[in-house]
Amino acid sequence: MKLIFLGPPGAGKGTQAERVAKEFAIPQISTGEILRQAMREGTKTGLEAKTFIEKGELVPDGVILEIVRERLRQPDCESGYLLDGFPRTLPQAEALEGIARIDWVLNLSVGHEVIVERLSGRRSCEGCGHSTHIGLAPDGICPICGKRLVQRADDAAEAVENRLRVYDAQTKPLIGFYEGKGRLLTVDGGLPIDEVTATIFSALRRAAE
Ligand code: AP5
Repeated sequence: MKLIFLGPPGAGKGTQAERVAKEFAIPQISTGEILRQAMREGTKTGLEAKTFIEKGELVPDGVILEIVRERLRQPDCESGYLLDGFPRTLPQAEALEGIARIDWVLNLSVGHEVIVERLSGRRSCEGCGHSTHIGLAPDGICPICGKRLVQRADDAAEAVENRLRVYDAQTKPLIGFYEGKGRLLTVDGGLPIDEVTATIFSALRRAAE
C-alpha cells in the first residue's frame, strides 16, 4: 500500500503515520524528520534546510525531491510506504505522479486554533526525535530513549503562524488535486488520538475493499 498523509502542521500526521505504518507493515517516510536528522548531523543538506525550517518556510522542491527519490529507491519501499509531510506543493505532487502510483491520500483536517495549542505544548527528543506533548512528559525526559526533550525551533509562536500561512497558500491546494483523482480520504484530526487512529484504520480498510 502506498499512502500519503496530508494536513496542516500539528494535525497529527507524525503521530498517526507511526501507528498506520506499524499496522500495515510499511515504512514511514517523514521528510521533516529526514531534514531534522540531517540538521542534527550537520550535513550540507541539513545546513541548507535549517534556514528555511526555523522560519517556518518550505525547503526548496529540488532538495526535497532528491531526498524522496533516493529514499524510495531503498529495498524496504518495494511493497509500499507512507509519505508523511510529502508532497507539500503542487510541483512536488506532480513530480511524485511520475515516480509512483499512490493508492490513498489521508487528509487530516484540524482547525488552526487547535493546532496552535498542540504545537506550543509539543516537545521533541534531541536524541531520537520522538515527539510528545509536555503534558505527557512533564519531567522533560524522552520516554523512549531517556534524553532531553526540547521545543522545536519551528514550534515558536512566530514560526507556527508562518507555517500555517505557508500551509494555506502552498499545501492546501493539494486537497483539490487528490480529490480530483478520486484518491482522497478526509478524517477529522481534531478528535482524541485513539479515535483518529480507529477512523483511519476503518477508512483504509473500507477503501481497500
Ligand atoms: P514536518 O516535520 O513535516 O512538520 P509539519 O508538517 O509542520 O508537521 P508537524 O511535525 O509539526 O506536525 P504533525 O502533523 O506531524 O503532528 P504531530 O503528530 O507531531 O516539517 C517540518 C519542516 O520541514 C517544514 O515546515 C518544512 O520547512 C520542512 N519540510 C518537511 N517536508 C517538506 C516538504 N515536503 N517540502 C518542503 N519542506 C518540507 O502532532 C503535533 C502535536 O500534537 C504532538 O505534540 C502530538 O502529541 C499532539 N497530537 C497529535 N494528534 C493529537 C490529537 N488527536 N489530539 C491531541 N493531541 C494530538
